[in-house]
Amino acid sequence: MQSQNLLYEGKGKRLYKIDNTDTLLSVFKDDLTAFNAQKKSSEKGKGSLNCQISSQIFKILESKNIKTHFIQTLNDNTMLCKKVQIIPIEVVVRNIATGSLIKRLGIAESLIIKDTPLRQPLVEFYYKDDALGDPIITDSHCLMMNLITSEEIKILKTIALQVNEILQEYFDRAGLNLIDFKLEFGRDKDNTIILADEISPDSCRLWDKVTHKKMDKDIFRQNLGSVTSAYKEVLERLNNL
Ligand code: TMP
Ligand code: ASP
Repeated sequence: MQSQNLLYEGKGKRLYKIDNTDTLLSVFKDDLTAFNAQKKSSEKGKGSLNCQISSQIFKILESKNIKTHFIQTLNDNTMLCKKVQIIPIEVVVRNIATGSLIKRLGIAESLIIKDTPLRQPLVEFYYKDDALGDPIITDSHCLMMNLITSEEIKILKTIALQVNEILQEYFDRAGLNLIDFKLEFGRDKDNTIILADEISPDSCRLWDKVTHKKMDKDIFRQNLGSVTSAYKEVLERLNNL
C-alpha cells in the first residue's frame, strides 16, 4: 500500500484512496483500543479476523437489501469499499441492557433477553468526537448541530432496526446472542445514506447463547483473555452456517 495514498488512519483501520475512482481500500489493523484509547494493545491476526467477519456480515445485509459501502474482500485484512462521507453519529442498538447503558441509568445487568428491562430494541445516537469522548446525543442535538435532517434521523433508526433483526437471526443460527452493536453511516457520491465502517466483534457484543460467554471486545476491555481466539471461533461458526 502506498503511504502517499493514505486518506485516514483510525483506531481500527487505515483507509487508502484509489486515484480516479469512487472507491477506497480499508485495511484492518491488529491494534486494540478501549475507553477512548486510554487502554491499548495489539493481537496478531485480529485485523484479518475482523475484516473477514465484517465482510460476511456486509454480504448478508446486502442480500437483504441493506445498502452498504462493501464491494469485495481483496485479501485477509483488506476490503474494497465505496468512498463515503461519514456522518459523525455512532448509532447504537441494544437488545439487552449492559455496558454504558446500565452505568448511565443505574440498572442491573441482564444475562438473557427475557430478563432485560428493554421492552423493545433501543436505538441511541452518540456524537462521534474522540476529544469529547463520543457523548450521547438526542435527535434535537443532531438537528441543532446540522449533522442530519429529521427525515435522515428516521432513515438511520429504520435501517438500524432492520440490521438488528437480520443480524439477531444470523448470529442466533451461529449460537450467539447479539446483545448490542454500533453502526456508522456515510453519504455516497449520489448523497444516498449507506452503512459504512465495520461490523465485527470490536463493534458488537456477542454472547454464547448457552454459556453466555463473551465473544467480543469486552474480553479486552475487562481483561478476560485473548480476543483473537474468541473472534476466530465467531468466524468459524459463521463460516459453518
Ligand atoms: P457501550 O455499552 O459501551 O455504549 O457500547 C455499546 C455498543 O457499541 C457495544 O456493542 C460496543 C460498541 N461500541 C463501539 O463500537 N465503539 C465504541 O467506541 C463504543 C463506546 C462502543
Ligand atoms: N472504540 C473505542 C476506543 O477505542 C472505545 C471502545 O470500543 O470501548 O477507544
